[in-house]
Amino acid sequence: MGRILIAYATDKGATRRLADAIAEGARGAPGAAVTLDDVDALSAADVLQADGVLFGGPVHMGGMHWRAKRFIDRECGPLWKESDLSDRYCGVFATGGGYGGAGGGCDLAMLAMLSNFAQLGMVIVPLPRATPGFADGGCHWGPYGRTNAPDGAPIPLSDGALACARAYGRRFAELVAARRLRRAG
Ligand SMILES: Cc1cc2nc3c(=O)[nH]c(=O)nc-3n(C[C@H](O)[C@H](O)[C@H](O)COP(=O)(O)O)c2cc1C
Repeated sequence: MGRILIAYATDKGATRRLADAIAEGARGAPGAAVTLDDVDALSAADVLQADGVLFGGPVHMGGMHWRAKRFIDRECGPLWKESDLSDRYCGVFATGGGYGGAGGGCDLAMLAMLSNFAQLGMVIVPLPRATPGFADGGCHWGPYGRTNAPDGAPIPLSDGALACARAYGRRFAELVAARRLRRAG
């Protein structure tokens, strides 16, 4: 059993679709209890009740979405002082238009999000390159999806990106469950 919170920011729904795929993978792990919601519907209490937090958003101007950052500052900021989250796992995901390769800054947005969770002392779960779909929708920081073709036309998230997201969700949930078992034993 592991309680997993998947929190996302989205404007147009693409990041929600990636989060859905991660949730689908996580729910495939035995005993995983998954909560999936927009950051605006969540609070510090949701973070505190989770054994693992997966956090994502679209890349904006090469960085983190402002609502994702607002959640971190408002809800997670106070936890830095008040709580010990060092036994919890965390991971990140992102979508981007993709201009300039690597999701047009998805890697930087994910790194920015991860640095916030590192401040909280959480255990970072990266994305191994052997993950199915990695070549299409993977970066060592986490899964990502492209939402524009090279000519700028909107495109749906690729099957590879969704497969990568599902595999990451499953792996994350299994790691959380294994850690809970170790703590209990
Ligand atoms: C203000 C703004 C800035 C953006 N900056 C970038 C960027 O730097 N790199 C990129 O690849 N895409 C960028 N995009 C595109 C979004 O990241 C992309 O459309 C994303 O998939 C939208 O996700 P959503 O559907 O979850 O809102 C930007 C979009 C907006 C609205």
